[in-house]
This record gives sequence, structure tokens and C-alpha cells, in this order.
Amino acid sequence: MERKIVLTGDRPTGPLHIGHYVGSLKKRVEMQESGDFQQFVMIADIQALTDNADNPAKIRENILEVMLDYLAVGLDPERTTIFVQSKIPALFELPMYYSNLVTLSRLQRNPTIKSEIKMRGFEKSIPVGFLTYPISQAADITAFRANLVPVGVDQLPMLEQTREIVNSFNNLYKKDVLVLPEAVLPDNENAYRIVGIDGGAKMSKSLGNCIFLKDDAKTVEKKVMSMFTDPNHIKVSEPGKIEGNVVFTYLDIFCKNEHFEKYCPDYKNLQEMKDHYRHGGLGDVKVKKFLNSILQEILTPIRERRIKFENNKKMLLDILAEHSRVASDYANITLDAVRDAIGIKIF
Ligand code: TRP
Repeated sequence: MERKIVLTGDRPTGPLHIGHYVGSLKKRVEMQESGDFQQFVMIADIQALTDNADNPAKIRENILEVMLDYLAVGLDPERTTIFVQSKIPALFELPMYYSNLVTLSRLQRNPTIKSEIKMRGFEKSIPVGFLTYPISQAADITAFRANLVPVGVDQLPMLEQTREIVNSFNNLYKKDVLVLPEAVLPDNENAYRIVGIDGGAKMSKSLGNCIFLKDDAKTVEKKVMSMFTDPNHIKVSEPGKIEGNVVFTYLDIFCKNEHFEKYCPDYKNLQEMKDHYRHGGLGDVKVKKFLNSILQEILTPIRERRIKFENNKKMLLDILAEHSRVASDYANITLDAVRDAIGIKIF
């Protein structure tokens, strides 16, 4: 049986956080372990430039940072091709062809682009490169003939736009040249979107409300202890609110029944703990300590693996260089088919 192809990527604008982990990294490792897929993981430095053109140093520095996070969570270069976007010339050429199939108003309607324009203050003056990055992302996905793209829900509009481009291309030029990709979302719906530790709508480096995969144990504990809970829950004996309470939001994502046996045997499951909190008599500190134990259990092996690679920059760069060569050859096959389908291959 032919293996399905998986492609994803991350912008190297900062170290990756637990939102990346539950949103997509975990799934990538599972897919790798299953052996059922051929997997490509891309460090999206060109896309990172689309809103950081004035700060390329940040992107350069974070390429190895993201690579380290990948290896730390368990992506294995023997089984997953990890490469750098800017090293793949086909990813510059394909968007040029695709851009003829996309209207300006369609880009402006892309919900992710819309909200990012707002967040970055680009309303008055939008860099063309930024507005068109969904086309570039369609090139990333289609160049690798990806069937599956493990992403968080914020990326669904990008997948939708890619599918439209694929359909337009195949209808206009030649059937079945481009592969129609599908998103793969996390198994746990609570992990679709992860709020910041301050209760802000999104965990984001620029908002300073993240727990990073590379945070040491003390830092994680401090962040958990400072989490936004229920501001009106002052006395332990009083009832507390679960909705909007970040500690419980994270427990919904990370907690399994077995964690109660290990770290908090007073309760059998999360429902019991929530009920007690709602009725009064359960303090924030106890719940936070419980969450901290769970997060430490998840993050400790990631941290330990990271140490093994941290001092071997040369090896990381060698892997990226080698894998980028392999990835480029792979993408060139699609590029060739695309040129052929359009009919611009005269010699
Ligand atoms: N847009 C993704 C992000 O912001 C990064 C990315 C670039 C990507 N190209 C991709 C993700 C292709 C999946 C597939 O993190």
C-alpha cells in the first residue's frame, strides 16, 4: 500500500509552546510512530518573513530553536524529513502560477488573514507578501503532494484556500496534477485552540502568555501558579467558576483519569474535581499543583531529549541541509508536472 503523505510547518518566530504541542506536534509524532505515512515537516522561514521583514535576525535565530523543539518532542530525522522552506526553489515558483487563480477579494476574505491583519495593525497598508501568504502555503502543501496536514483550527482557512487552488488548477489545466489535501485536527476538541495563561484568547509569544516546551521545571511551575482562575473565588470555602478558568481549561486538555490516582487521589476524575470546585471547598492552589504535576510529566521527557541535541548545532544544521536537498528534489517533481500541465515547457 502506498503511504499517505503528510506535510506541516511552523514559522520560526520563537520557541514552540504547549499549544503547538497539543495542536499539531503530538499528532505528527504519532503519525511518525505509526509508520503509515511519509512525513515532511517544514520550518517556514519565508512565511515568517511576511510579517517580520524588518527583523530577519529573529527568524534566523529561531530556525535552530524550532528544530530543537521538533527533535525534543520526538520527531526523528531518520523517519521524518525536516527542512527549511527558503531552501526549496519550487516554493517560490509555484505561488507565481497559483496567484493567477486567486482573486484579491478571496484573499481579503480569508478569516485567518483578516484577523492577523487586525492583530498586526496592517489595516491601512497591507504588505503584498503578507496578503498572499495563503498562496505560498498552498504551494508548500501541494509541492509535496500532501494528502494530510496536521494543524490547529486557525489553519483551516488556509487548507480551504489550498483546496480551492487545487480544484481550480486541476479543472483549468489538467486533472489530477495537484493532490487535494485534508486537515488533521487534534483528537481532543479542547486542544483545538489553547488560551494563554492569562486567559487571553490565544497563547502567543507576542502576548507573553505562553508555556514553552523548553521552559525549565521552575518556570513552568511559576507560570501555572500565576494562571488566571476565577477572580471572585477568594475564599477556599466559597464556590468557584470553571468557565474561563484557565487551570480547568488546561486540565480539559491535558488531564487523564490516571493522573488522579498518581497526583490527586481525592478525586476519581475531572468531573468530581470540577463539582467540588463549583460547590466550594476546593482552593486554586491544590488544582494548580495538580495541573503542574501533569505538565511536568509531559514536559520532562521533552526537556531531557532537548538537552541531548542542544550542544550539537553543527549536527542540526547538517540534518537540515541534507533534508532540504531531499525535499527540494521531491518538490521539483511537482513543479515539473505543473509546468507541463500549464504548457509552458517548450524546451
Ligand atoms: N501557517 C503555519 C503557521 O502559522 C505555518 C505553515 C507554513 C504551514 N506553511 C505550511 C502549516 C504548510 C501547514 C502546512 O504556523
